[in-house]
Amino acid sequence: MPNRSASPTPVAILSALLQEQQGLMELLHRPQKVAHAGRDFWLGELHGRPVVLALSKIGKVAAATTATALIERFGVRRMVFTGVAGGLGAGVNVGDVVVASDFVQHDLDASPLFPRYEVPLYGRSRFEGDAALTALLFKAASAALGDGGIGGAGAAFAGARAHLGLIASGDRFVSGASESRGLHAALTGAGHEVLAVEMEGAAVAQVCHDYGVPFAAVRTISDRADDSAHVDFPRFVEEVASRYAHAIVEKLLLSLEP
Ligand code: ADE
Repeated sequence: MPNRSASPTPVAILSALLQEQQGLMELLHRPQKVAHAGRDFWLGELHGRPVVLALSKIGKVAAATTATALIERFGVRRMVFTGVAGGLGAGVNVGDVVVASDFVQHDLDASPLFPRYEVPLYGRSRFEGDAALTALLFKAASAALGDGGIGGAGAAFAGARAHLGLIASGDRFVSGASESRGLHAALTGAGHEVLAVEMEGAAVAQVCHDYGVPFAAVRTISDRADDSAHVDFPRFVEEVASRYAHAIVEKLLLSLEP
């Protein structure tokens, strides 16, 4: 059994919303709060491993600030995001889990100077998750779902599936069937086969790319980004999201090498 507490650098676990972080906070050993950059960072141990829990806040800029602070101030060398997303791809249903293979910013458009979706001066439109960390996260998510549902949430989401694929991020809560169809069609038409939409992941992926910090993200589908998304989203966040985050992160931390 490796001595996990020997690890010098904590793993960062980022959530967008307090409700999503709740289940992790309850398990944090030796919690120590550090206020920095208008945020509370929680240092402690989860399953014997040093971690920093942080809220990304909502939107790409806020998430980039949190990610940068985690790297610069807290010295994290691995970052994991847990949160919720709207399902965009066919067969990506409420209660399913999407682990990001990579990210695109669906609201980035510097055309005609650069191709639609391309991040100017990076020569690319997508940022990948770290292959090894993402594989472990996908395994953890699949195992958590396979345990017959997550923390009592399973009954409501029997048959929930784990997917691995592209996630689109943008500064917009997508809550209309025609908008989500349009978003899906535009991205697919540009060669981006997207599974889910949220508001932070691509920003964190870009920051981690800049610093060379391995990053992986998992999103539970809280809504279908359609006309009832604004009702489904808060209900899911209140009732289910923290149990998903807790179950998946536990399995991931137990599987990490020091
Ligand atoms: N996060 C969860 N659901 C979402 C949606 N429909 N749009 C953007 N971000 C989300």
